[in-house]
Amino acid sequence: MRIIAIETTCDETAASVIENGKIKSDIIFSQVLLHQKYYGIVPELASRAHMEKIARVISAALKKSGIEYKKKTKTFFKKVDAVAFSRGPGLPGALLVGRVAGETLSRFFKCPLLGINHLEGHILSYEFENFKISRKLKYPFIAMIVSGGHTELWRAQASGKYKLLGKTRDDAAGEAFDKIAKLLKLGYPGGPIIDTLAVKGRADAIKFPRPYMRESHEFSFSGLKTAVAYHLKDNYKLDEKNNFEITKQGIYDICASFQEAIVDTLVYKAITVCEKFKLKELVIGGGVAANSRFRLKMNEAGKKAGVNVCFADKKYSGDNAAMIGLCAWHKLNSRGSIKNNIAISPNLAIS
Ligand code: KG4
Ligand code: ZN
Repeated sequence: MRIIAIETTCDETAASVIENGKIKSDIIFSQVLLHQKYYGIVPELASRAHMEKIARVISAALKKSGIEYKKKTKTFFKKVDAVAFSRGPGLPGALLVGRVAGETLSRFFKCPLLGINHLEGHILSYEFENFKISRKLKYPFIAMIVSGGHTELWRAQASGKYKLLGKTRDDAAGEAFDKIAKLLKLGYPGGPIIDTLAVKGRADAIKFPRPYMRESHEFSFSGLKTAVAYHLKDNYKLDEKNNFEITKQGIYDICASFQEAIVDTLVYKAITVCEKFKLKELVIGGGVAANSRFRLKMNEAGKKAGVNVCFADKKYSGDNAAMIGLCAWHKLNSRGSIKNNIAISPNLAIS
């Protein structure tokens, strides 16, 4: 079975080909440089960049996979069984680009178009290893999505059947990383930068609040963000360029202490939910799942609590099209009739 997949929910323009469970190509064009000077994603710029790049990204994915090949300078195409695209959640203009590209491809290859949930892609990404689908998720399990737009806990009952247990009331974990990096003028995206700088800092240098909200499975990171802002305001002066007069070590310590507060919260919430629902398998996906401190502390806590922690490989934690192809592959291989919806849905959930 051969599937072409497209991902354009946010700031990555991506296309992939999955053939019989193997990733034949996985092309990602990141818009990071475009959004960097704004310290965040500008939706209008994102849509335009998707539009400019999508054809080239798809073309590269088709060539690399061998779907498009040349014989004595004539171009041929192999048969394609389905085209899949992320139909949400995501930025409306960005999603439309993926939908139009997907529809065009499905007409060209005369095959069905499948609308895929981006969040389900993040969860199932765990199954990829060595460029193929080689690990199998065992239902039921707890799924945690930690990305730039989402911080959510789900109970995964069966393939395609999810129940939301809790989500963030305000900022997503990745968004908090990005906002603190902006406050410290470190660059964008903030997560990987803070992850790197935190290694040189002391995690216990500043005691930032842990928003545990013990009675619920929800998250809230806006108070933590405010605490960091007050810490800076109370302890450092601003220079004439509006930068805090702070030493490098001071920045490392803030990064490490802030990161520790986020990580402790995510670990606490994840383990509490597993214990409450008596589930021993925890699957974690989304950009923040690449955080090295989070991976370390989550794995340690999982071992202690007897929970099997399943992180997607780092290279599949962030947005990619292979994970969209993977969801389509599962849909097409499932025995029952498949629910398919190709309408874009910027606020799509996965229940
Ligand atoms: O899943 P993703 O690529 O896109 C969304 O669907 O949002 O996640 C992007 C988010 C950004 O906020 C980025 O700062 C964060 O993931 N991120 C990280 C790390 N790598 C990416 N956060 C913490 N540590 C990292 N190493
Ligand atoms: Zn994502």
